[in-house]
Amino acid sequence: MAQNKTKQHFRQLDVDKEILSVINNGVIILNDQLQIHYYNKWMQLHTKFKENDVLGKKLYEIFPTINKKTLKRKIQTAFTIQTPTFYTASSSHYLIPIKINQIKNSLFKYMQQDVSIIPFKQDKQFVAVIITDQTIMANTNALLQTNIQKVKELNEALIKEKEITEFQHKQLLSNSRSAAMGEMISMIAHQWRQPLSLINTVIATLKIKKELGILDNKIIDNSINKIEKTTNFLSSTIDDFRDYFKPNKIAAKVNISNLFEKSLFFLKSELKQLDIEYDINIDPDISIVTYKNELLQTILNILKNSIDAFKENNIKNKKISVIVVNNKESVLITIEDNAGGIRIDNLQKVFEPYFSTKSKNGTGLGLYMCKTIINEHLHGNISLNSNTNGTKVAIQLPNKV
Ligand SMILES: Nc1ncnc2c1ncn2[C@@H]1O[C@H](COP(=O)(O)OP(=O)(O)OP(=O)(O)O)[C@@H](O)[C@H]1O
Ligand SMILES: [Mg+2]
Repeated sequence: MAQNKTKQHFRQLDVDKEILSVINNGVIILNDQLQIHYYNKWMQLHTKFKENDVLGKKLYEIFPTINKKTLKRKIQTAFTIQTPTFYTASSSHYLIPIKINQIKNSLFKYMQQDVSIIPFKQDKQFVAVIITDQTIMANTNALLQTNIQKVKELNEALIKEKEITEFQHKQLLSNSRSAAMGEMISMIAHQWRQPLSLINTVIATLKIKKELGILDNKIIDNSINKIEKTTNFLSSTIDDFRDYFKPNKIAAKVNISNLFEKSLFFLKSELKQLDIEYDINIDPDISIVTYKNELLQTILNILKNSIDAFKENNIKNKKISVIVVNNKESVLITIEDNAGGIRIDNLQKVFEPYFSTKSKNGTGLGLYMCKTIINEHLHGNISLNSNTNGTKVAIQLPNKV
């Protein structure tokens, strides 16, 4: 009976060995002192050691670089808890140093391995060490990691670039705002010339009358009155100027007709001087909710461009016309001049920052600022058409920003 069992046992072992010899993994059977009892075909093939070279030897005699302490500890643990223990390729790369043929894009010289240490149930002295080649996986993983890192870096670079562009954009807007301010100041100066000369005349008259000894209280009172009225006008011009060049924080109801009247206030002396007819044809009932000062700046920029074009070209019957159409959800404002138009090869560039045909007087930021304000702040659209007769700018704005 016992003999039968032994026979069966041996047969069983032979069957196991046959399977182990063809399996596509490394199998080594060790005792707790790391002495080699079995070394399968896969191991022989990959390490170039024959079975006879290794049997009975200690694993670290064959492979001096292995960490014998850790391996012994793992084996001990497997015995104690009677379940397999593992090394994974990601945590410890490899147990047995097996050089690999250099494959394309490979990051490793040695085979990366998953290792399972399986205790024998019947015989507590032995463990099977199963080695699985994980090089391709580890390689893919490592490549993936580098790619993720690269993507991360690219992303960071992109974010930085975006920040820089936003900063440049803000800078440009603030440049163009200062340019518009400068322009407004020159318009104010224009407006002031007349009242200032009036004050000068009053003062000069007072001086003369005093020298002639004909200065009485009535003349003094009249003169003071005149000067007071005029300085009030001067100071209200400044207030208006200041009000309109502060950007609005809150959108409010804006009457389009009033807004164009306001533009007339800023431009009238120049329009008059150049003999430009300014034809504003707007239904006084049209109002929208928007940022008033930004819209006025845009309109002034466009009107100023027409005025500049009239200065450059000699045109008879100069005219700027404004038409506003109220659609259901939006209003369409068109500002048209007959100042000679824009050259066809420049037409594409007029909304670009710093594009100007005005040698020293233009910053080239006017229309760029218009487009930015209309698109980004007022959520509308701006387009420009031009031919040899003149230029037409169309602005579409929502009823409510
Ligand atoms: N109504 C127009 N008639 C003819 N040319 C125009 C008109 N509006 C714009 N342009 C052309 O478009 C260019 C760009 O206009 P934009 O307002 O952006 O800059 P600019 O007027 O040159 O400079 P800035 O506005 O700073 O004074 C102008 O230089 C001019 O050549
Ligand atoms: Mg301009």
